[in-house]
Amino acid sequence: MAIGLVIGRDENERKKMSSYIQEWMDSLLAQDPQLDLRLYPNLGDINEIDFIVVLNAPTGIFKEFTHVKAILTLTAGVDSLLSDNSLLPHIPIVRIEDPFMADDICQYALTYVLQYMKQVEHWHNLQKHHDWDRRVPFVFSSKTIGVMGLGYLGKRVAVTLSQLGFTVNGWSQSPKEIPGVTVYTGQDQFIDFLQHTDIAVCLLPLTLNTRDILNKNTFSHLKKGAHIINMGRGEQLVEEDLLAALDSGQLTGATLDVFRQEPLPKDHLFWDHPKIIVTPHIASITNPRTAAVQVVENIKRMQKSEEPIGKVDLTQGY
Ligand code: GLV
Repeated sequence: MAIGLVIGRDENERKKMSSYIQEWMDSLLAQDPQLDLRLYPNLGDINEIDFIVVLNAPTGIFKEFTHVKAILTLTAGVDSLLSDNSLLPHIPIVRIEDPFMADDICQYALTYVLQYMKQVEHWHNLQKHHDWDRRVPFVFSSKTIGVMGLGYLGKRVAVTLSQLGFTVNGWSQSPKEIPGVTVYTGQDQFIDFLQHTDIAVCLLPLTLNTRDILNKNTFSHLKKGAHIINMGRGEQLVEEDLLAALDSGQLTGATLDVFRQEPLPKDHLFWDHPKIIVTPHIASITNPRTAAVQVVENIKRMQKSEEPIGKVDLTQGY
């Protein structure tokens, strides 16, 4: 059994990512030193490859891999991979569901939820002006967090925040039972969900249904003065609608980790906007040391014809 490791869009990117690629090789081999791991483009006889493990693979390569048992992607989101027209429909795709990545996502959400709840920026501004203006910060129970998307990561965020004492609602396509979290389902309950939300945390997968979902209509239904945290995908946010909602005061802030164009262009308005926090897509970065455990376990499962963890539903697109 051979495994092809395909990381990087082209030679240039592979060079830049060489130490990350090496970390992946080492981490996968640490899980199983017997793995016949082959690094793209030196895959040898392509018919010997049983699994391909990919991250930012070159576009259009997949039609060659007619015999692989699965494509394992090293990302949580699969939108970029699924946009590759060379994918063969009969080959399953498996994504990363790494508990350590989920912890990173939870900690990111918590950081910015607390920043909003505890009005950190307000106190810092007062300090700049040596201004001793005491006022009661928001109490946790007076604000509701609405997690959009209750997949592997969204559910973890909702549960973690709820266990910490926040009031948490969630919204997902299909009905879910999550202890401590009030779940709204489908398009019918979307507006109701928004109307109860002070902090909207987006962890939706990017699909045709969720593209542009953070738009002026959505913002108008959130509670006045709401904050949004986008950890989903940049294409879910209509940028000019966000700017307008911040200007009007309908939203008081946005924390954005993902963007339509990444890296965010140097002259983009978001960089200097006083109500926007920009982070460079770091809410969670796949860590080879932790994620390799799942990749190798999934390969072993599939060799035994067992279902892998994190199999993508190709009809849903996530
Ligand atoms: C990051 O955004 C990922 O999809 O893993």
